[in-house]
Amino acid sequence: MSIVVKNLQFTYSANSPYETRALKDVNLTINEGDFLGIVGHTGSGKSTFIQHLNGLIRVQEGEIEVFDIKLTNAKKPKPDLRKLRSHVGMVFQYPEYQLFEETVYKDVAFGPKNLGLSQEEINDRVKEAIELVGLDYEKYKDRAPFELSGGQKRRVAIAGIIAMKPKVLILDEPTAGLDPSGKEQILSLIKNLKEKCSPTIIVISHDIDEITRFANRLVVFNDGKVAFDEPMKELFKHQQELVEMGLDIPLAIKIANELKAKGIKLGENIVTMSDLLREIVIAYNKKNGTNIDVSKIRKSVFNFDFSNSNQEEVFKDE
Ligand SMILES: Nc1ncnc2c1ncn2[C@@H]1O[C@H](COP(=O)(O)OP(=O)(O)OP(=O)(O)O)[C@@H](O)[C@H]1O
Ligand SMILES: [Mg+2]
Repeated sequence: MSIVVKNLQFTYSANSPYETRALKDVNLTINEGDFLGIVGHTGSGKSTFIQHLNGLIRVQEGEIEVFDIKLTNAKKPKPDLRKLRSHVGMVFQYPEYQLFEETVYKDVAFGPKNLGLSQEEINDRVKEAIELVGLDYEKYKDRAPFELSGGQKRRVAIAGIIAMKPKVLILDEPTAGLDPSGKEQILSLIKNLKEKCSPTIIVISHDIDEITRFANRLVVFNDGKVAFDEPMKELFKHQQELVEMGLDIPLAIKIANELKAKGIKLGENIVTMSDLLREIVIAYNKKNGTNIDVSKIRKSVFNFDFSNSNQEEVFKDE
């Protein structure tokens, strides 16, 4: 287990006219290797929750254990926040606003420097991180961050976090405000990071179609509480409740619902577009006595429809 959260409560501006109870008795265990998606309506407490995990917000009530570090409201013993932040890397929404050094190299080196590493180790980590986010090290290391495109800046900001080699990487709305190709780059970067550096990843997203492409577990926040905590494919058994909470459901499920309402018999377990296609082809074969190969159709359909997307992700169930 990486992170255990017990009975966490949090109130902003307590005892003032602006008092807001942002978290109400949150209990959650995040396991090593989880690829966790967090969704929930605006103001449901997602950002407040994750900012507790690296000590940016102090625990008021309840407790959190991150690896061997305990976070409570007790004044003593003080938690080792430096160690905590080296374990838990946090990429905020619009992280590019936090770039401040004059070169890409210096910005990415900032975190590792604070960890007190040797110059050689810092160099290695900076180079590795810049390349991991898909930028050419020699070409970009001396560039000023403000000269880069929005998507590139964001990747530099993410490089600065992964250069600290966190065991858990948390990203708050990592694709917000990017164009479709910038989004795709960040999504495939996150998937790549999962494989190459952070064994545990937590992503907050408003885009349900995006998050179902990679998360293997989904947690839904509603009004400061954890409403659901389910394996990705199981969550949408609660689709009625999700809609009532003001959440979107995946496009594939919406299309499947429409088709079923028109009398087309489709199997269960449809969440992604790939699932939908599979069930449509199966239904077609059954009705017409044909034997069309799903995988061949899938290839041509997704090549056409999602030319930018990461094919392996779309087909991850196969
Ligand atoms: N710094 C703050 N001071 C006072 N209230 C705050 C502060 N930050 C958040 N809140 C309130 O706490 C509640 C939870 O906010 P939070 O930012 O955690 O929600 P969220 O789920 O991340 O929302 P979003 O999807 O809009 O980012 C909201 O009611 C919000 O208005
Ligand atoms: Mg938020």
